Amino acid sequence: MSATPLSGSPKVTVPEILSRKNLRNGSSEAKEPRKITCLTAYDYPSARLLDEAGVDILLVGDSLAMVALGYESTLPVTIDEMLVYVRAVRRAAKHALLVADMPYGSYHVSLEESVRNAIRLVKEGGAEAVKIEGGERRMELIARLVDAEIPVMGHVGLTPQSVNAMGGFHVQGKTADAARQLERDARAVEAAGAFSIVLESMPRELAARITQSLRIPTIGIGAGPDCDGQVLVFHDLVGLTMGHRPKFARRYADLASEIARAASDYCADVREGRFPSDAESYHSPAEVRDEIVKSTK
Ligand code: KIV
Repeated sequence: MSATPLSGSPKVTVPEILSRKNLRNGSSEAKEPRKITCLTAYDYPSARLLDEAGVDILLVGDSLAMVALGYESTLPVTIDEMLVYVRAVRRAAKHALLVADMPYGSYHVSLEESVRNAIRLVKEGGAEAVKIEGGERRMELIARLVDAEIPVMGHVGLTPQSVNAMGGFHVQGKTADAARQLERDARAVEAAGAFSIVLESMPRELAARITQSLRIPTIGIGAGPDCDGQVLVFHDLVGLTMGHRPKFARRYADLASEIARAASDYCADVREGRFPSDAESYHSPAEVRDEIVKSTK
């Protein structure tokens, strides 16, 4: 792997993430806390590169259903499928906090089953926290998970698992009533014991109000610059998204063009006999070569 290791950089933990907000609220000196950086990660090489680049939180998001598996929504991915990706990222992440999304259906049947599924992500996957979508209606579940020693990241605003109920992927909280409901949802997630909360696709003014009013850090995606941290989907960041890319998803690299160029150069080289070269081939030792030549005469 070619990324420079962050030697000696401390492990990011749940209390450390919380302390960034505490610093922000601290009255002593006007010390600007470091904003929290979070990216999705699904496989070993990308997770290792992101970890070594110093990303604070690696989120194995159920967005993998869309960006890595090609589904139309996040709904089809299962807890068993998530576990494969969580383990791959676990093997790579030495510094970042590892958060795993609970997929649709894994926390919608009963509290017992939900806790059992969250425990699988921790025990079998090595996740250090889980993320669940929803506000007021998830209070009991968040409290139960915290009681089971599982730190919880909340997620309100555009919650992709509600795509059918919401009628699509739309910006949320645009009316006064909807904004008030989102504020109630965020407060409920905090009151239930979550250590952080994702605010997705909402007006920046609303995200700023929620950020100001909470004691836990907010991590925004399409929620403006005033959150305590930001998260992006890895495939959007590096230009590997095939479908619609929302306006907030700034592209920092264009890997799709690079991969297409590499694949077409490879095909041309194979077809024209330029690959592999002699230097890229293994050679028999001289005595074996001589013996084969002799024996075939
Ligand atoms: O699944 C995911 O990647 C997410 C982030 C967009 C926050 O939930």
